[in-house]
Amino acid sequence: MIVLGIESTAHTFGIGVVRNGKILANLKDTYTTQSGGIVPKEAAKHHSEVKEKIYSDALEKAEINEKEIDAIAFSQGPGLAPCLLEGLRFAKELSGRLKKPFVPVNHCISHLEIGKITGAENPVMLYVSGANTQIIAYSANRYRIFGETLDLGVGNFIDTFARLLDLGFPGGPAVQKLAEKGKKYIELPYVVKGMDISLSGILTNLRQKFESEKYSREDLAYSMQETVFAMLIETAERALAHTGKKELLLGGGVACNNRLQSMAKIMCEERGARLFVPENALLVDNGAMIAFLGEVMFKAGISFSHNKIDDLDIMPRQRTDEIEVRWK
Ligand code: ATP
Ligand code: FE2
Repeated sequence: MIVLGIESTAHTFGIGVVRNGKILANLKDTYTTQSGGIVPKEAAKHHSEVKEKIYSDALEKAEINEKEIDAIAFSQGPGLAPCLLEGLRFAKELSGRLKKPFVPVNHCISHLEIGKITGAENPVMLYVSGANTQIIAYSANRYRIFGETLDLGVGNFIDTFARLLDLGFPGGPAVQKLAEKGKKYIELPYVVKGMDISLSGILTNLRQKFESEKYSREDLAYSMQETVFAMLIETAERALAHTGKKELLLGGGVACNNRLQSMAKIMCEERGARLFVPENALLVDNGAMIAFLGEVMFKAGISFSHNKIDDLDIMPRQRTDEIEVRWK
Protein backbone atom coordinates (compact mmCIF):
# COMPACT_ATOMS: atom_id res chain seq x y z
CA MET A 1 0.00 0.00 0.00
CA ILE A 2 1.21 3.51 -0.86
CA VAL A 3 -0.14 6.69 0.74
CA LEU A 4 0.75 10.24 -0.25
CA GLY A 5 0.63 12.98 2.40
CA ILE A 6 0.23 16.73 1.90
CA GLU A 7 1.28 19.23 4.59
CA SER A 8 0.35 22.91 4.25
CA THR A 9 -0.75 24.25 7.64
CA ALA A 10 1.68 27.19 7.85
CA HIS A 11 5.12 28.07 6.39
CA THR A 12 5.84 24.65 4.94
CA PHE A 13 4.47 22.89 1.88
CA GLY A 14 5.50 19.26 2.09
CA ILE A 15 4.79 15.98 0.33
CA GLY A 16 5.55 12.61 1.85
CA VAL A 17 5.19 9.11 0.45
CA VAL A 18 4.82 6.11 2.74
CA ARG A 19 4.62 2.43 1.90
CA ASN A 20 3.57 0.10 4.72
CA GLY A 21 4.94 2.39 7.42
CA LYS A 22 8.19 3.06 5.60
CA ILE A 23 8.98 6.58 4.39
CA LEU A 24 9.89 6.56 0.69
CA ALA A 25 10.07 10.34 0.26
CA ASN A 26 9.75 13.44 2.42
CA LEU A 27 10.21 16.69 0.49
CA LYS A 28 9.28 20.22 1.40
CA ASP A 29 9.72 23.86 0.60
CA THR A 30 9.32 26.51 3.28
CA TYR A 31 8.12 30.06 2.78
CA THR A 32 10.37 32.50 4.58
CA THR A 33 10.58 36.25 4.99
CA GLN A 34 13.33 38.36 6.47
CA SER A 35 11.36 39.00 9.64
CA GLY A 36 9.70 35.60 9.81
CA GLY A 37 6.30 37.18 10.27
CA ILE A 38 3.88 35.15 8.20
CA VAL A 39 1.39 36.73 5.79
CA PRO A 40 -1.06 33.85 5.29
CA LYS A 41 -2.01 34.82 1.72
CA GLU A 42 1.65 35.11 0.71
CA ALA A 43 2.44 31.71 2.22
CA ALA A 44 -0.53 30.21 0.37
CA LYS A 45 0.77 31.73 -2.86
CA HIS A 46 4.15 30.14 -2.16
CA HIS A 47 2.48 26.76 -1.65
CA SER A 48 0.57 26.95 -4.92
CA GLU A 49 3.77 27.89 -6.76
CA VAL A 50 5.86 25.00 -5.42
CA LYS A 51 3.30 22.21 -5.15
CA GLU A 52 3.70 20.65 -8.61
CA LYS A 53 7.47 20.56 -8.37
CA ILE A 54 7.51 19.10 -4.84
CA TYR A 55 4.94 16.54 -5.95
CA SER A 56 6.86 15.34 -9.01
CA ASP A 57 10.17 15.36 -7.10
CA ALA A 58 8.59 13.29 -4.32
CA LEU A 59 7.30 10.68 -6.78
CA GLU A 60 10.74 10.52 -8.35
CA LYS A 61 12.45 10.18 -4.95
CA ALA A 62 10.00 7.43 -3.95
CA GLU A 63 10.52 5.76 -7.34
CA ILE A 64 6.81 5.37 -7.95
CA ASN A 65 4.31 6.27 -10.62
CA GLU A 66 1.32 8.32 -9.44
CA LYS A 67 -1.01 5.49 -10.49
CA GLU A 68 0.48 3.38 -7.68
CA ILE A 69 -0.88 5.75 -5.00
CA ASP A 70 -3.69 4.11 -3.01
CA ALA A 71 -4.86 7.09 -0.96
CA ILE A 72 -4.20 10.79 -0.52
CA ALA A 73 -3.85 12.18 3.00
CA PHE A 74 -3.79 15.90 3.79
CA SER A 75 -3.54 18.19 6.83
CA GLN A 76 -7.11 19.28 7.56
CA GLY A 77 -6.17 21.50 10.54
CA PRO A 78 -5.31 23.31 12.69
CA GLY A 79 -3.55 26.01 10.72
CA LEU A 80 -3.88 29.14 8.63
CA ALA A 81 -6.96 29.00 6.42
CA PRO A 82 -5.39 30.21 3.13
CA CYS A 83 -2.53 27.71 3.54
CA LEU A 84 -4.80 24.81 4.47
CA LEU A 85 -6.98 25.60 1.44
CA GLU A 86 -4.02 25.16 -0.92
CA GLY A 87 -3.43 21.70 0.52
CA LEU A 88 -7.09 20.74 0.30
CA ARG A 89 -7.30 22.01 -3.28
CA PHE A 90 -4.27 19.96 -4.26
CA ALA A 91 -5.66 16.86 -2.49
CA LYS A 92 -8.95 17.27 -4.37
CA GLU A 93 -7.17 17.71 -7.66
CA LEU A 94 -5.12 14.52 -7.19
CA SER A 95 -7.97 12.51 -5.78
CA GLY A 96 -10.21 13.51 -8.68
CA ARG A 97 -7.58 12.75 -11.29
CA LEU A 98 -6.40 9.45 -9.80
CA LYS A 99 -9.87 8.39 -8.55
CA LYS A 100 -8.39 7.51 -5.17
CA PRO A 101 -9.88 8.08 -1.72
CA PHE A 102 -8.60 10.73 0.60
CA VAL A 103 -7.89 10.84 4.31
CA PRO A 104 -8.18 14.04 6.40
CA VAL A 105 -5.44 14.15 9.04
CA ASN A 106 -5.05 16.28 12.18
CA HIS A 107 -1.67 17.98 12.01
CA CYS A 108 -0.86 17.85 15.75
CA ILE A 109 -1.74 14.17 16.08
CA SER A 110 0.45 13.35 13.08
CA HIS A 111 3.43 14.89 14.94
CA LEU A 112 2.71 12.40 17.69
CA GLU A 113 1.97 9.34 15.58
CA ILE A 114 5.16 9.71 13.53
CA GLY A 115 6.98 9.11 16.82
CA LYS A 116 5.99 5.45 16.46
CA ILE A 117 8.68 5.21 13.82
CA THR A 118 11.25 5.74 16.60
CA GLY A 119 9.71 2.96 18.70
CA ALA A 120 7.51 5.01 21.03
CA GLU A 121 4.35 3.06 21.83
CA ASN A 122 2.29 5.02 24.30
CA PRO A 123 4.10 8.30 24.95
CA VAL A 124 3.40 11.66 26.44
CA MET A 125 4.35 14.12 23.70
CA LEU A 126 5.89 17.51 24.22
CA TYR A 127 4.88 19.26 20.99
CA VAL A 128 6.77 22.52 20.59
CA SER A 129 6.56 24.30 17.23
CA GLY A 130 6.06 27.85 16.02
CA ALA A 131 2.39 28.27 16.73
CA ASN A 132 1.77 25.24 18.95
CA THR A 133 2.95 24.30 22.42
CA GLN A 134 1.06 21.38 23.90
CA ILE A 135 1.54 18.33 26.07
CA ILE A 136 -0.52 15.57 24.53
CA ALA A 137 -1.25 11.99 25.54
CA TYR A 138 -3.70 9.28 24.57
CA SER A 139 -6.45 8.40 27.00
CA ALA A 140 -9.87 6.81 26.40
CA ASN A 141 -10.18 7.16 22.61
CA ARG A 142 -8.79 10.67 22.39
CA TYR A 143 -5.49 12.45 22.33
CA ARG A 144 -5.94 14.78 25.27
CA ILE A 145 -4.17 18.05 25.89
CA PHE A 146 -2.70 17.92 29.38
CA GLY A 147 -1.12 21.32 29.21
CA GLU A 148 -0.46 24.10 26.74
CA THR A 149 0.69 27.67 26.33
CA LEU A 150 -1.82 30.28 27.38
CA ASP A 151 -0.50 32.81 24.87
CA LEU A 152 2.42 32.43 22.45
CA GLY A 153 3.74 29.22 20.91
CA VAL A 154 7.31 28.68 22.09
CA GLY A 155 8.75 28.80 18.52
CA ASN A 156 7.07 32.14 17.82
CA PHE A 157 8.29 33.36 21.21
CA ILE A 158 11.90 32.39 20.38
CA ASP A 159 11.60 33.93 16.90
CA THR A 160 10.37 37.23 18.41
CA PHE A 161 13.24 37.20 20.90
CA ALA A 162 15.65 36.51 18.03
CA ARG A 163 14.24 39.44 16.07
CA LEU A 164 14.89 41.68 19.06
CA LEU A 165 18.53 40.55 19.00
CA ASP A 166 18.63 40.99 15.20
CA LEU A 167 19.35 37.31 14.57
CA GLY A 168 17.05 36.84 11.53
CA PHE A 169 14.54 34.07 10.88
CA PRO A 170 14.11 31.28 11.89
CA GLY A 171 15.49 32.37 15.23
CA GLY A 172 15.72 29.00 16.99
CA PRO A 173 19.07 27.74 15.63
CA ALA A 174 20.75 31.17 16.03
CA VAL A 175 19.49 31.57 19.60
CA GLN A 176 20.75 28.07 20.43
CA LYS A 177 24.24 28.97 19.17
CA LEU A 178 24.29 32.22 21.13
CA ALA A 179 23.03 30.49 24.28
CA GLU A 180 25.92 28.02 24.14
CA LYS A 181 28.25 30.99 24.76
CA GLY A 182 26.26 32.30 27.73
CA LYS A 183 27.80 31.88 31.17
CA LYS A 184 25.77 33.81 33.69
CA TYR A 185 22.21 32.92 34.59
CA ILE A 186 20.00 35.99 34.71
CA GLU A 187 16.83 35.64 36.77
CA LEU A 188 13.69 35.68 34.59
CA PRO A 189 10.02 35.19 35.46
CA TYR A 190 9.11 31.49 35.60
CA VAL A 191 5.46 31.17 34.61
CA VAL A 192 3.83 27.78 35.07
CA LYS A 193 0.12 27.84 35.91
CA GLY A 194 -1.02 24.37 36.80
CA MET A 195 -0.19 22.36 33.67
CA ASP A 196 -0.05 25.43 31.42
CA ILE A 197 2.69 27.91 30.68
CA SER A 198 2.67 31.57 29.67
CA LEU A 199 5.39 33.32 27.68
CA SER A 200 4.30 36.89 26.94
CA GLY A 201 5.43 38.27 30.33
CA ILE A 202 8.86 36.67 29.89
CA LEU A 203 9.14 38.29 26.47
CA THR A 204 8.39 41.73 27.92
CA ASN A 205 10.93 41.12 30.68
CA LEU A 206 13.59 40.05 28.17
CA ARG A 207 12.90 43.13 26.06
CA GLN A 208 13.35 45.43 29.06
CA LYS A 209 16.56 43.68 30.07
CA PHE A 210 17.93 43.84 26.53
CA GLU A 211 17.10 47.55 26.20
CA SER A 212 18.72 48.33 29.56
CA GLU A 213 22.07 47.28 27.98
CA LYS A 214 23.15 45.78 31.30
CA TYR A 215 23.26 42.20 30.08
CA SER A 216 25.10 40.37 27.31
CA ARG A 217 23.10 38.85 24.43
CA GLU A 218 24.72 35.49 25.16
CA ASP A 219 23.63 35.50 28.80
CA LEU A 220 20.11 36.57 27.84
CA ALA A 221 19.82 33.76 25.25
CA TYR A 222 21.23 31.24 27.72
CA SER A 223 18.92 32.34 30.53
CA MET A 224 15.90 32.38 28.23
CA GLN A 225 16.54 28.77 27.18
CA GLU A 226 17.23 27.56 30.73
CA THR A 227 14.05 29.17 32.06
CA VAL A 228 11.58 28.40 29.29
CA PHE A 229 12.79 24.85 28.66
CA ALA A 230 12.64 24.13 32.42
CA MET A 231 8.99 25.23 32.33
CA LEU A 232 8.31 22.83 29.43
CA ILE A 233 10.14 19.94 31.07
CA GLU A 234 8.40 20.52 34.40
CA THR A 235 4.94 20.28 32.85
CA ALA A 236 5.96 17.30 30.69
CA GLU A 237 7.22 15.52 33.80
CA ARG A 238 3.99 16.23 35.62
CA ALA A 239 2.04 14.77 32.68
CA LEU A 240 4.18 11.61 32.89
CA ALA A 241 3.48 11.34 36.61
CA HIS A 242 -0.22 12.03 36.17
CA THR A 243 -0.78 9.52 33.35
CA GLY A 244 1.64 6.88 34.65
CA LYS A 245 3.20 6.67 31.18
CA LYS A 246 6.84 5.73 30.77
CA GLU A 247 7.72 7.36 27.45
CA LEU A 248 8.34 10.96 26.45
CA LEU A 249 8.28 11.89 22.78
CA LEU A 250 9.46 15.22 21.39
CA GLY A 251 7.83 16.85 18.34
CA GLY A 252 7.81 20.22 16.54
CA GLY A 253 10.64 22.42 15.26
CA VAL A 254 11.77 23.64 18.69
CA ALA A 255 12.48 20.02 19.63
CA CYS A 256 15.52 20.27 17.28
CA ASN A 257 17.15 22.26 20.12
CA ASN A 258 20.08 20.39 21.75
CA ARG A 259 19.59 21.93 25.16
CA LEU A 260 15.89 21.04 25.25
CA GLN A 261 16.78 17.49 24.21
CA SER A 262 19.40 17.15 26.92
CA MET A 263 17.07 18.50 29.62
CA ALA A 264 14.42 16.01 28.49
CA LYS A 265 17.01 13.23 28.62
CA ILE A 266 18.04 14.07 32.19
CA MET A 267 14.42 14.25 33.37
CA CYS A 268 13.58 10.91 31.74
CA GLU A 269 16.65 9.21 33.21
CA GLU A 270 15.78 10.48 36.67
CA ARG A 271 12.31 9.01 36.55
CA GLY A 272 13.05 5.83 34.63
CA ALA A 273 11.22 6.89 31.46
CA ARG A 274 12.40 6.48 27.87
CA LEU A 275 12.95 9.48 25.60
CA PHE A 276 12.17 9.38 21.88
CA VAL A 277 13.36 12.09 19.48
CA PRO A 278 12.66 11.65 15.74
CA GLU A 279 15.22 13.01 13.27
CA ASN A 280 14.98 16.76 12.57
CA ALA A 281 13.23 16.29 9.20
CA LEU A 282 10.38 14.57 11.06
CA LEU A 283 10.29 17.10 13.93
CA VAL A 284 9.55 20.12 11.77
CA ASP A 285 6.40 20.31 9.65
CA ASN A 286 6.60 17.67 6.92
CA GLY A 287 4.52 15.60 4.52
CA ALA A 288 5.82 12.21 5.69
CA MET A 289 4.04 12.43 9.03
CA ILE A 290 0.77 13.18 7.23
CA ALA A 291 1.28 10.20 4.90
CA PHE A 292 2.28 8.00 7.84
CA LEU A 293 -0.84 8.71 9.93
CA GLY A 294 -2.93 8.78 6.74
CA GLU A 295 -1.90 5.20 6.03
CA VAL A 296 -2.73 4.05 9.56
CA MET A 297 -6.18 5.70 9.33
CA PHE A 298 -6.81 4.37 5.82
CA LYS A 299 -6.00 0.83 6.96
CA ALA A 300 -8.49 1.31 9.80
CA GLY A 301 -11.17 2.19 7.24
CA ILE A 302 -11.16 5.95 7.74
CA SER A 303 -11.30 7.57 4.30
CA PHE A 304 -13.58 9.41 1.91
CA SER A 305 -14.34 8.29 -1.61
CA HIS A 306 -13.06 10.61 -4.36
CA ASN A 307 -16.65 11.44 -5.36
CA LYS A 308 -17.39 12.68 -1.83
CA ILE A 309 -14.77 15.33 -2.38
CA ASP A 310 -17.10 18.29 -1.86
CA ASP A 311 -18.23 17.09 1.59
CA LEU A 312 -14.87 17.86 3.11
CA ASP A 313 -13.51 21.19 4.28
CA ILE A 314 -10.49 22.54 6.11
CA MET A 315 -10.67 22.97 9.92
CA PRO A 316 -8.37 25.88 10.85
CA ARG A 317 -9.27 25.66 14.56
CA GLN A 318 -9.49 21.90 14.89
CA ARG A 319 -8.56 20.82 18.43
CA THR A 320 -6.45 17.75 19.15
CA ASP A 321 -9.09 16.32 21.50
CA GLU A 322 -11.93 16.77 18.97
CA ILE A 323 -10.75 13.77 17.02
CA GLU A 324 -12.14 10.39 17.93
CA VAL A 325 -9.22 8.02 17.57
CA ARG A 326 -10.75 5.11 15.67
CA TRP A 327 -7.50 3.63 14.39
CA LYS A 328 -6.09 2.13 17.58
P1 ATP B 1 3.17 24.73 13.37
O1 ATP B 1 3.21 25.60 14.58
O2 ATP B 1 1.94 24.92 12.56
O3 ATP B 1 3.38 23.29 13.70
P2 ATP B 1 5.70 25.85 12.25
O4 ATP B 1 5.97 25.99 10.80
O5 ATP B 1 5.78 27.08 13.04
O6 ATP B 1 4.31 25.15 12.36
P3 ATP B 1 7.87 23.91 12.85
O7 ATP B 1 8.36 23.73 11.45
O8 ATP B 1 7.52 22.66 13.60
O9 ATP B 1 6.62 24.81 12.99
O10 ATP B 1 8.93 24.72 13.73
C1 ATP B 1 9.44 25.98 13.42
C2 ATP B 1 9.96 26.62 14.70
O11 ATP B 1 11.03 25.84 15.25
C3 ATP B 1 10.53 28.02 14.48
O12 ATP B 1 9.93 28.88 15.44
C4 ATP B 1 12.03 27.86 14.75
O13 ATP B 1 12.65 29.00 15.30
C5 ATP B 1 12.04 26.70 15.72
N1 ATP B 1 13.34 26.00 15.77
C6 ATP B 1 13.99 25.37 14.78
N2 ATP B 1 15.20 24.91 15.19
C7 ATP B 1 15.32 25.26 16.50
C8 ATP B 1 16.32 25.11 17.50
N3 ATP B 1 17.48 24.49 17.26
N4 ATP B 1 16.08 25.63 18.74
C9 ATP B 1 14.92 26.25 19.02
N5 ATP B 1 13.95 26.45 18.11
C10 ATP B 1 14.13 25.96 16.87
FE1 FE2 C 1 3.62 21.40 13.23
